[in-house]
Amino acid sequence: MQLMNSIRRFRFAVAFSLLVIAPWSAADNERIANFALLDAEGSYHQLRKYGDYKAVVIISMAAACEENLESLHKYRLLQTTWENQGIVFLALNSTAETALEDSRTLGSLYQLDMPILVDSSQLVAELLDIRKAGEVLVVDPDRFRVVYRGGLDLETRRADPSRNITPVVATDYLAQTLAHVANEEWDALTNTVTSGVTGCEITFPARDADLASVPDYSTEVAPILVEKCASCHSEGGIAPFAMNSHMMVQGWSPMMKEVMLTKRMPPAQVDPSVNHFTNARYMDAEELQTLVHWIDAGSPRGDGEIDPLTLFESPTSEWELGEPDYIVEVPAFTVPATGVLDYENVTINLPFKEDVWIKSVQHLPGDRRVLHHLLSYIVPADYSERIVEGENDQYREFLEGYAPGKDEAATYPEDAGMFVPKGSAVQMSLHYTTFGKETVDQTLLGLYFADEEPKYQYSTYSLSHGGRNIVIPPGVSEHKMSATHVFEDEIMLHGLRPHMHYRGKYMKFRVVYPDGTQDDIINVPDYNFNWQPTYRLSEPMLLPAGSRVIVEGAFDNSQFNLGNPDPGATVRGGAQSWDEMFIGYFSYHKTAPLH
Ligand code: HEC
Repeated sequence: MQLMNSIRRFRFAVAFSLLVIAPWSAADNERIANFALLDAEGSYHQLRKYGDYKAVVIISMAAACEENLESLHKYRLLQTTWENQGIVFLALNSTAETALEDSRTLGSLYQLDMPILVDSSQLVAELLDIRKAGEVLVVDPDRFRVVYRGGLDLETRRADPSRNITPVVATDYLAQTLAHVANEEWDALTNTVTSGVTGCEITFPARDADLASVPDYSTEVAPILVEKCASCHSEGGIAPFAMNSHMMVQGWSPMMKEVMLTKRMPPAQVDPSVNHFTNARYMDAEELQTLVHWIDAGSPRGDGEIDPLTLFESPTSEWELGEPDYIVEVPAFTVPATGVLDYENVTINLPFKEDVWIKSVQHLPGDRRVLHHLLSYIVPADYSERIVEGENDQYREFLEGYAPGKDEAATYPEDAGMFVPKGSAVQMSLHYTTFGKETVDQTLLGLYFADEEPKYQYSTYSLSHGGRNIVIPPGVSEHKMSATHVFEDEIMLHGLRPHMHYRGKYMKFRVVYPDGTQDDIINVPDYNFNWQPTYRLSEPMLLPAGSRVIVEGAFDNSQFNLGNPDPGATVRGGAQSWDEMFIGYFSYHKTAPLH
């Protein structure tokens, strides 16, 4: 039913091409830019990461395009014929607002065993200059070169003088191209372009509107930059350049387009189709279109008198909830001008004479230009070891983290608090980055006590399958792992944090309820060691007693993981960042009151 509706909604012009179809070689090699998209299942695909394949075949598809559906068996055959010869197949769904539903329909209804990339903003279709569902691109992912652009195949037509039809003999340029690719006959490849794409015209309403009237810098573009980028990209911020004027942004525009189309920026994005998190950084299709179309138009200043970026005030360090009840002073740390620093670990004893409950905390970074993030834990006093899961089991709780851009005070959920037994310390793991000048960081942690003992104890469970279970062979691009745990009591789930090191690729959390039904909890499709906040659910999830949570993820030990310090190494579990860990953190409280 939904499919029929979307077929009706989607207006397309089917252009059965009766042209005589001939390939030509483009004078210069057509190249495309790198891009990344999630598929309908929430997996991340970036063109560059297919670098060890001989070719990437991108097939533009739409569930509403009947002609496209008619060809599914042909796409399948193409895939089975070539996928074992180093060629990977991706479907691309660029049908604007219905792209996700549409792709899921395609995937499930037709059991298409091919990732369907969801291009709701249509920006990738624009980048690839795709005009019709049914268009096929063959890309050499090493050189980003398009070696084929055209239809699926050409059909033999008999002559029919009564209808003025001339004969056409099939020449399967696509198959020819793939055969050359499979045999690595690169010299035989020309940029084959055929004009014979039959399929459904894709409309680009947002692009057309933005072409007719370029988004206005002052009123449309800058407000998005202020909201989504400037908290880090400002004077004294962590990011390498400040978006503090139109001139500055114009200069960085090409790079901004690239990092947005590969989902590198803003950092800490999650799969938007799974739950909602207060501190994940979402960019919706419209925001992306506005920024990219403005950049494509040359990033014009427009007529607006005021440049909102010049008015933006950088975040300042102040106690949001007033003077804390106790301030933990992190010892001053000198950050050198250059170099890569390993994580700093410090333990600071707390002087409390009795047990206390903490209600809120806030980290105040000493120098925001260098403090990349930190994590604070409650540990026993004088605790000096690094935290190794399962090996040192004294009371230890994750307190809070700091990440640039979202450094407001954090308050534990209603009626819940963090227990700090007498004789505790705060242990911090601090990650500093250098920025060209030596500086000294002196970060503060403000603690706010609960007036009375809370009803619930806030706590974090670390679900690990790390240590000796981790052995990642060299060069492997997807080394999968999982871990599982049953919560014996009913809990209210508030926060999640995937934790892996440099080879971390993705991590998903889901829950299987006692009645056998399940829900996704979070999906971090493109894990980045440098950005690992505790993602806070906008709406906490109630997990009944006996719920099983499952964490699934993978490591990428290949050269295409740009964060990989050594693709030639066999990587094992361990505390150093060049070793690996596999942990899913669940922050929650039991729903049964303490008393
Ligand atoms: C939470 C902080 C934060 C936010 C928000 C943020 N950035 Fe960044 N950005 C960084 C940091 C840190 C770097 C440098 C290292 C890295 O890639 O992590 C960076 C790097 C970049 C670079 C690349 C510079 C280079 O030379 O590689 C561009 C371009 C960029 N950001 C654009 C954006 C845009 C556009 C947005 C908003 C849509 C944005 N950033 C939001 C922190 C941030």
